[in-house]
Amino acid sequence: MTILVTGSAGFIGSNFVLDWFAGHDEPVVSLDKLTYAGNRANLGSLDGDERHTFVHGDIGDSPLVAGLLKQHQPRAVLNFAAESHVDRSILGPEDFIQTNVVGTFHLLEAVRAYWCTLDTPHKVEFRFLHVSTDEVYGSLAPDAPAFTENNPYQPNSPYSASKAASDHLVRAYHHTYGLPVLTTNCSNNYGPYHFPEKLIPLVIRNALAGEALPIYGDGQQIRDWLYVKDHCSAIRRVLEAGNVGETYNVGGWNEKANLEVVHHICDTLDQEAPRSDGHSYREQINFVKDRPGHDRRYAIDATRLERELGWKPAETFETGIAKTVRWYLDNQGWVENVVSGAYREWLSRQYS
Ligand code: NAD
Ligand code: TYD
Repeated sequence: MTILVTGSAGFIGSNFVLDWFAGHDEPVVSLDKLTYAGNRANLGSLDGDERHTFVHGDIGDSPLVAGLLKQHQPRAVLNFAAESHVDRSILGPEDFIQTNVVGTFHLLEAVRAYWCTLDTPHKVEFRFLHVSTDEVYGSLAPDAPAFTENNPYQPNSPYSASKAASDHLVRAYHHTYGLPVLTTNCSNNYGPYHFPEKLIPLVIRNALAGEALPIYGDGQQIRDWLYVKDHCSAIRRVLEAGNVGETYNVGGWNEKANLEVVHHICDTLDQEAPRSDGHSYREQINFVKDRPGHDRRYAIDATRLERELGWKPAETFETGIAKTVRWYLDNQGWVENVVSGAYREWLSRQYS
């Protein structure tokens, strides 16, 4: 048995693959285009491990994907590959349409063709698991109940619109062709290997570099935060026991305003790596222009996943942030390697 994982060199994909081998010997074929967000070194500990095959390529490259499916005969395809950063989608949406919509379409087509070649028992057991986001549901009023799987899709950014489109394609491939799909819609992740353009790793990196900690608008936008390894355990559980055709919301029951998150990181760093002048990292906070169309609040109701599949997050926000800060302190070489010239160009474009 084998699984094919796309986007495996990115933040969540690499955590997923590394965690997979902590509990399984089942081989993984990894497919990643290695965009700015993909880092081969995230999977470096698997070099020479015959359970793991890394392939550099695009989910939209139909002949490549068809060849991989034919050669490795996976029992499941897990699709993490995407352009994933909202701010980049605002400055340049085209890559988001290309990978998240067109790429997912080509991947689904290749998977459907492969699935049709399987014998009945393998056809029944096969799964296509699509990893998606809570952002497809749009923005919540302060007192509105958290998103359930029945909320209508109301995406507001080019990123969330492109993810919504991919979710709809996945749903249609089940409804129309019978492809055995599963979809997960998860809240904001944080943890090891998170590219430092997203809020939490950016704040940790900038704090330690003595740079400003940019807070968009009033910093009162709310997100639900989930430690990445809890997301990975949810995906494994859904793959193992999810009902075909269903979607599952994944969340941490941790709604926090951005400013509260940043204060918490600063306070943790004050304890773990105090500034040489003895001042708090909170002094580096800088309120900047708000993101256009900024969603005010996301909140996830993960009751279905708990009730039907018995999944619960293992980490609280406090324990997850403590682990994350420790990882970045212990892996500053990783951060140095990913913050290239292109990264600095992005920062100056976004924050100037
Ligand atoms: P990421 O940006 O860190 O990684 C994405 C990976 O996909 C990168 O390794 C990149 O090289 C690869 N990739 C991009 N285009 C590709 C293509 N055309 N073909 C093959 N590989 C390609 O993203 P992430 O945070 O790890 O997110 C993974 C998935 O989880 C995405 O689908 C995202 O929408 C979803 N998600 C993310 C979060 C979050 O908080 N980060 C929350 C919920 C859902
Ligand atoms: P981000 O990590 O980009 O995730 P998403 O937009 O997918 O939720 O941002 C999380 C929140 O933090 C979001 O409300 C935007 C805000 N934010 C800032 O205030 N400053 C920043 O520099 C960044 C990157 C994000």
